[in-house]
Amino acid sequence: MNRRKAVQCLAGFFAASPLARAQQDLPYSGERVPALEDLVNVFEFEPICKMRIPRQNYDFIAGGVDQEWSLRHNREAFDKISLRPRMLVDASHLDLSLTLFGDKLSCPILVAPTAGHAQANPEGEFATARAAAATETILILSTNSSHPLEKVAEASNFPKWFQLYPGPDLEGTWERIQRAMDSGYKTIVLTVDAGYNSHRERLLRNRLRTQTPPGVPSPQSRRARVREEETSTPSRPAVYGLTTTLMHKLDWRFFDELKKRSRVPVLIKGILVAEDAELAVKHGADGIVVSNHGARYLDYAPATIEVLAEIVDVVNRKMPILVDSGFRRGTDILKALAIGATAVCVGRPPLWGLGAYGEPGVRRVLELLRTELALAMGLCGKANLSQIDRKLVRM
Ligand code: FNR
Ligand code: LAC
Repeated sequence: MNRRKAVQCLAGFFAASPLARAQQDLPYSGERVPALEDLVNVFEFEPICKMRIPRQNYDFIAGGVDQEWSLRHNREAFDKISLRPRMLVDASHLDLSLTLFGDKLSCPILVAPTAGHAQANPEGEFATARAAAATETILILSTNSSHPLEKVAEASNFPKWFQLYPGPDLEGTWERIQRAMDSGYKTIVLTVDAGYNSHRERLLRNRLRTQTPPGVPSPQSRRARVREEETSTPSRPAVYGLTTTLMHKLDWRFFDELKKRSRVPVLIKGILVAEDAELAVKHGADGIVVSNHGARYLDYAPATIEVLAEIVDVVNRKMPILVDSGFRRGTDILKALAIGATAVCVGRPPLWGLGAYGEPGVRRVLELLRTELALAMGLCGKANLSQIDRKLVRM
């Protein structure tokens, strides 16, 4: 055992000791936490995250909607696609970089907007922003960030994007995008798939038995309501019934107005069918994110990898197409790039990294994905992103 290994083992031992647990106030079971470097893929971060953060926070991150068919399908759909690697091609200089809206990224892997990173670690979005910057990629900051958007903007020098949930009123919404633009966010990503708060059954069950996670109103203080009620932005109401957000009243006219008021590119997140992608082009969207929101809103929404081709075909290179929901492997990302996506976003994996190891965990998750993508490209005979096309996949 070399010195580094010994230090890692010791750190693992201390991290698991009752004393360290008490100091960090971690409610985990005392199983040994492996050294960060010992994890070999992003899946391995999830159980460690689960062990280290309060159960209700973990359930919020992990959960899908209803019976979680789409959540399972998001993974299973990748298994229906295999790769068609080419041989005897010089792929000795691998270049994964791309330029998006004028900014150069080290790889086509962005951090999807996810609410409340402080639920995974008190540093929250500050840590995620720094980790994304270290990887030279974009953090898309959620409207429901744990920390103010101005402060997160200052946490790193690398470009960031801002995800918009309109609400609770239009005036507040215009103010919010103004603040984001003034703070230097390079695009606005309007999320359109969350007009009604969905039934996350894990949270509905937890409502009865758990304490309140940081920064969230106590579920016990909000009596279960089985009537229509509007909430400001989609969050995590562990409430059974119809609760809506401002989004459920808005239509393409709202998008047109948002476009007019924005001096930065505006993307639409949550597109799942070709007809809506066509409308996005027609209304002058600067990009779309093909997404089923990590299977958190509509169950039986399709896996994004299976609808990507129809969307790519109607968009016909008129704007960048990002895609998310279920991406966990370099080969998953390569398949999406082959079908025609410009880049991929990951939601839960960075949160697992954050919950398990803080900022270094997020960095490691992004590095693992980037390395896996590079390896898959190299083994397929693709030295850079422009060489990747649909001939690389068998669907
Ligand atoms: C989300 N997502 C999300 N999307 C959004 O536009 N605004 C938000 O505030 C959130 N919040 C959020 C919280 C958590 C805990 C998760 C897991 C997801 C959806 C997110 O942007 C993305 O679409 C999915 O996470 C992608 O799926 P994977 O990578 O998590 O499978
Ligand atoms: C979610 C909301 C916050 O997915 O978008 O939990």
